[in-house]
Amino acid sequence: MGHSEKSDWLKSQQKSQKKYRFIVATIGIIVLLSVLGGVGYVYMNKNKGKINGDNNIDISNKPNDGKKSGDPTANGETYFTWDKKPVDLTITPNPSLKKVFYGINYGPVNATFPWCTNTLGDVIEDVKLISQLTNRIRLYGMDCHMSDWTLEAIKLLKLDMTIVPTIWVDNNDTTYQRQHDTLIDMVKKYGVDNIDGVSVGNEVLFRKEVTPEKLFGRLADVRQEINSMGFKKKVPVFTSDLGSNVDAAYVAANDIMWANVHPYFGGVPVEQASQWTFEFFDENDVKPAKAVGKDAIISEVGWPTAGASEGAAVASIPNLQIFLNTFICDANKLKYKYYYFETFDTPWKERTWTKLEGSWGIFYDDRSLKPGITLPDCLAG
Ligand SMILES: *[C@@H]1O[C@H](CO)[C@@H](O)[C@H](O)[C@H]1NC(C)=O
Ligand SMILES: *[C@@H]1O[C@H](CO)[C@@H](O)[C@H](O)[C@H]1NC(C)=O
Repeated sequence: MGHSEKSDWLKSQQKSQKKYRFIVATIGIIVLLSVLGGVGYVYMNKNKGKINGDNNIDISNKPNDGKKSGDPTANGETYFTWDKKPVDLTITPNPSLKKVFYGINYGPVNATFPWCTNTLGDVIEDVKLISQLTNRIRLYGMDCHMSDWTLEAIKLLKLDMTIVPTIWVDNNDTTYQRQHDTLIDMVKKYGVDNIDGVSVGNEVLFRKEVTPEKLFGRLADVRQEINSMGFKKKVPVFTSDLGSNVDAAYVAANDIMWANVHPYFGGVPVEQASQWTFEFFDENDVKPAKAVGKDAIISEVGWPTAGASEGAAVASIPNLQIFLNTFICDANKLKYKYYYFETFDTPWKERTWTKLEGSWGIFYDDRSLKPGITLPDCLAG
């Protein structure tokens, strides 16, 4: 791409920066609430999905079927979805699905406050589907078994997949401590072979909920803790924030630069969104990371199918198709690392906020591919 084109992109980004930040903040808050959804769970379901003090996560959360809970791999127990459908542990390939995504963001259904009515059975069904799209999953929190059940599903399905779990960070130290402890328990139980890295917080700096010093101190603590547990593999630790929030202190504190980059909130027409994303990411994130020999990854990028337009950015299924055809194939060809936002629609966000917030899925929440969507023919690297 030519140099003048590049400065046009940046100019248009700067113009929309304020709006962009505001709306990205809104998404951050929604994610915050979704992850805080785990808060009540540990207390509500003391006898079902208990996280106890001896580093032993009891992952059973099946409907009350009278069966004894325990190691689910031991005796071929049956799992059920939230609507009581039994879950089969074999994967029947869906011909419409292709492994075209480097990675994908996944928010399990019903893992929301104060209900936390999610089930391991649903996570298994989700992972069966996601395994046909990518090998890499990014998750937003540790509450509601969001992350350990994803690892459990990968194990039960015998898949070669990895996750990036997030310790959710807000201004509540109790929340941090609980999520931190759950992460450490999970790592003790499952090891780190299926963990590509650990994220401490998402958009925390943007929301200004803790100071950069406090957040970066936590990154250092978690890095030290996990990497002194005796695993051969070194686990990178980082936070994720707006792509525009990367400065020298940020670069120094993170093993990898993870950046949320949303062309939709930049008000960019879909035909230009792919190119805009690379320009924005290169300038704000790749450049400072490369300067010190570090890697950069797009932690969120996507396109919604319904809800309010944002300048020249219009939400629709045909536009999602254009975005997939352009961004996914360009990114794969150019070897960018990215986690697509997101797998499923999230109707609960729609009920609480707007249509737009709930409409970023490639699939509806019933796991059906949105009508008319064809995954492009460009396999991920
Ligand atoms: C679980 O999620 C589904 C799909 O969004 C929803 O229809 C259902 O009411 C939820 N169940 C509970 C118990 O929250
Ligand atoms: C922090 O979260 C805990 C539950 O995790 C809650 O009991 C407490 O009231 C919260 N503190 C503040 C200051 O909101």
